[in-house]
Amino acid sequence: MKITVIRGDGIGPEIVDQAIKALHSVEKKYNCKFEFSDALMGGCAIDETGVPLPEETVASCKSSAATLLGAVGGPKWDNQPANLRPEDGLLGLRKAMGVYANLRPATLFEELSAASNLKESVLKGGLDLLIVRELLSGAYFGKKEVVEIEGGKKATDAIEYTSHEIERIARVAFDIARGRSRKLTLVDKANVLYTSRLWREVVAKVAEDNKDIKLNYMYVDNAAMQLINDPHQFDVILTENMFGDILSDEASMLTGSLGMLPSASLGDNSVGIYEPCHGSAPDIAGQDKANPIATIMSAAMLLRYSLKMEDAAECVEKAVAKIISKGYRTVDIMEEGKLLVGTKAMGDLIAAEI
Ligand code: IPM
Ligand code: MG
Repeated sequence: MKITVIRGDGIGPEIVDQAIKALHSVEKKYNCKFEFSDALMGGCAIDETGVPLPEETVASCKSSAATLLGAVGGPKWDNQPANLRPEDGLLGLRKAMGVYANLRPATLFEELSAASNLKESVLKGGLDLLIVRELLSGAYFGKKEVVEIEGGKKATDAIEYTSHEIERIARVAFDIARGRSRKLTLVDKANVLYTSRLWREVVAKVAEDNKDIKLNYMYVDNAAMQLINDPHQFDVILTENMFGDILSDEASMLTGSLGMLPSASLGDNSVGIYEPCHGSAPDIAGQDKANPIATIMSAAMLLRYSLKMEDAAECVEKAVAKIISKGYRTVDIMEEGKLLVGTKAMGDLIAAEI
């Protein structure tokens, strides 16, 4: 089982290394063998090859069962010309791999409810919601241009969606909702945007084939507020690319830290990309401070969705929960009376627990 490993920039390498430790433990425990193959993407790829997404990287990902990814980007490459930024490598890889469904589960371990900025009363009973974010269209991939106009410039990022793009992600969301509490919220801005109205139209049609799922609609501004006000009203949230990007960062704070949110990006086959939702955090890179849990949980999703190793996936997730319940904390989720550990120690503890 070949896994392409893209460590990336900033804290990417150190967090990915911890996820690989966890996967090595899985190899031992489940008597299987993973073949890890390194590939470049992002700023480090620009430095070494001149482009953020070398062709060999795409080829490696395509010939693998899955890709495990750290994070890309950093101030060093902020002045790169458009199309040659580290982030363009990530978007290009998502596109090349056809991964239109981005699953971002926000799970609050009860022991971490004090680490969250929200009142414990709001988070009572833990939290388990899932954002299904469309990943290959919308403003990220619509028509873009900057033109000179009289007295200045004009920039455009068009939000574009086809009914086909909406339907395929909607079907994924309904299927996922069926495996959970059968509740789906479509988040949009249908009071203003034509694209959102098309989303409602298409999702309503897909709902006719999924009558067992309770579907409701919510404007994105209200959803942003409701996530903080009463997060328990949500189970599966379906939304377009940019709203999903923004709401998933917000949802991460419900779990205590952005360092806790994993993600899986899937297309029509099982070859997925697995990455934490957070960025490359250049300010703490190389200091053994980063929380590796989002990446380790992403590796669990890799086991579940691409390698179909559900037992191993649950084993990794349980190991993370166990280490948290034993009181170990990285600095982002640290509270008084707990045991502060660095990135590597957290990775070692989880790997040993597996
Ligand atoms: C994410 C990130 C990326 C995105 C960036 C790095 C391009 O913020 O995965 O949420 O916007 O998709
Ligand atoms: Mg983001």
